[in-house]
Amino acid sequence: MMKTSSKKKSVLRLVRKANPAAGRIVKADARLLDAEQFLLPTYKRQPVVMTHGRGAYVFDSTGKKYLDFLGGIAVNALGHAHPRIVKVIRREAARAIHLSNLFHNAYQGPLGRKLAAWSGMDRVFFSNSGTEAIDGAMKLARLFGRHSNEPAGTTAKKHRFLALENSFHGRTFGAISVTSTEKYRLPFSPVVPGAEFVRFNDVADLEAKFDDTSAPFSWKRSRAKAEYIPSAKFSGIALAHSPRSTALF
Ligand SMILES: Cc1ncc(COP(=O)(O)O)c(C=O)c1O
Repeated sequence: MMKTSSKKKSVLRLVRKANPAAGRIVKADARLLDAEQFLLPTYKRQPVVMTHGRGAYVFDSTGKKYLDFLGGIAVNALGHAHPRIVKVIRREAARAIHLSNLFHNAYQGPLGRKLAAWSGMDRVFFSNSGTEAIDGAMKLARLFGRHSNEPAGTTAKKHRFLALENSFHGRTFGAISVTSTEKYRLPFSPVVPGAEFVRFNDVADLEAKFDDTSAPFSWKRSRAKAEYIPSAKFSGIALAHSPRSTALF
């Protein structure tokens, strides 16, 4: 383990490099040192302590204002501290913190009805994170691919997942299993078996790997954020395969 004094110096070097003006103020900020010492290094964090946001802007502990293009990695579409959202969160926190899925609450059913109507789907599954949503979709694909004469506990014939190369889906075991980037997947081998990766927009690769006798197709549409715009031919072929292969999108 690094001694605290040399650790402190290396953190401060990073802080000054990222934001020279902030160095003097952040020097006194023990929070960066605590993070360095006590958090698992699962993310490469900028040496900046964010304190609050307002609308489309966020502010760090030195008072510096940033236009928030990140949006919580593309999940905070509603901005920061909108008064109506703050009001509802305050109200609900004062009512009950957590009641579990063992009972009904006043909101899930009606929200499910709205989401089903907007999406054209029959039912809704709520999860707390993107990676749980992917894991849920993979489990649905496996259930959907299992024929009634294939008992639970056996490997169903249709058990393969096809996913896009260069995609990212989150950090649970299911999600990393369908993530082609090796640094996310290989350290945790063996991962959930059955995944294969298709080159983005490569119709021949898709055709070759889309085995219509054995491939439920679980494919998250959003690849690495905005760069993912599949060609009409590529998505058309994937969609055309879906009835034959019990594909799920
Ligand atoms: C494209 C994509 N999918 C899934 C995830 C995982 O979402 P979560 O962090 O909510 O588990 C991320 C997270 O960055 C992501 O960028």
